[in-house]
Amino acid sequence: MAFLAAGPLRSQAPPSDVYDDFRNNCASCHTIGGGPLTGPDLKGLTERTDRAWLHRFLSDPKALIDAGDPRAAQLFQEFRGSYMPTLPGMTAERIDALIDLIEYESGLEKSAFAGMRLPERPLTEADVLRGQALFLGDQPLARGGPACLHCHSTVSVPGFGGGRLGPDLSTVYARMEGRKALGAWLMAPPSPVMAPVFQRHPLEEEEVLGLVAFLQEESRRAGVEPVQGREVDLLLAGSSLAALVLVAFDFLWRRRYRATRRPLLESTRR
Ligand code: HEC
Ligand code: HEC
Repeated sequence: MAFLAAGPLRSQAPPSDVYDDFRNNCASCHTIGGGPLTGPDLKGLTERTDRAWLHRFLSDPKALIDAGDPRAAQLFQEFRGSYMPTLPGMTAERIDALIDLIEYESGLEKSAFAGMRLPERPLTEADVLRGQALFLGDQPLARGGPACLHCHSTVSVPGFGGGRLGPDLSTVYARMEGRKALGAWLMAPPSPVMAPVFQRHPLEEEEVLGLVAFLQEESRRAGVEPVQGREVDLLLAGSSLAALVLVAFDFLWRRRYRATRRPLLESTRR
């Protein structure tokens, strides 16, 4: 068996901390053999590009795209102009370990990252209502995460409106092009603000489905129908329209906010 040890050690699984790294920092946007999410499917990555390029790309994706590298620029276009985030601590060693993992997993019949565990069942009105209750905090998240309302608002969030730390989520369903990408995003949010909290208190599958259903409904209410693939131009046109509607809405909302707030303040002063 000496010839095995002499060859590249493809048959040996990468260490588990590299799996954790990929799961926590990459899997929300990339599958290995499960199709594109927010970013491309990474199966067969090392067959279509070389390591030197990957090192340059992974240490600062945005810099390479902005510098006009043809391959990076093409990927950027293909992925609807969303930048892959520049992740902190991307040493050459870590990049090599991640590439090794992608190469190893690409060679397996079914990679551990072939896709989400989210069930495919159709979303129902009950999902929308459950998602709304979770979003608002009317129903607590099973594993103790904070309600989305603390940091986010949407078109129909009643009362005082949601928090402003995170972006408005009215059109995020359409922007991420639907259930699969948004679901994967929520299973492990690659957000510097959300990740530390939701890694310790992850959302459960059924909660993700509910939130996806609710955010799909919100996109509809905001007038942005989810579209796929070739209709991206339409989506862009639609979302700038929706942005206008939202600006108008936000304006009305704030006035309403003040209008509710003032009597409240006055009643406490009395
Ligand atoms: C928030 C989403 C997101 C996260 C998180 C993310 N990526 Fe990406 N990735 C993208 C997008 C989008 C692209 C396409 C290029 C672009 O638009 O920036 C991309 C492109 C790539 C490419 C180039 C693919 C090719 O065909 O050449 C590689 C390699 C890659 N990502 C690896 C990773 C690794 C490894 C991680 C984790 C350390 C990671 N990505 C985390 C979104 C993401
Ligand atoms: C502690 C505050 C906080 C909480 C709680 C929170 N988020 Fe976020 N979220 C953020 C911030 C901030 C961002 C923007 C990315 C960043 O800067 O980290 C974000 C981004 C997002 C995005 C991506 C938006 C985009 O346009 O790309 C989605 C989707 C999202 N959050 C969904 C949720 C859902 C669903 C919940 C409830 C389960 C939730 N968030 C709870 C702070 C929060």
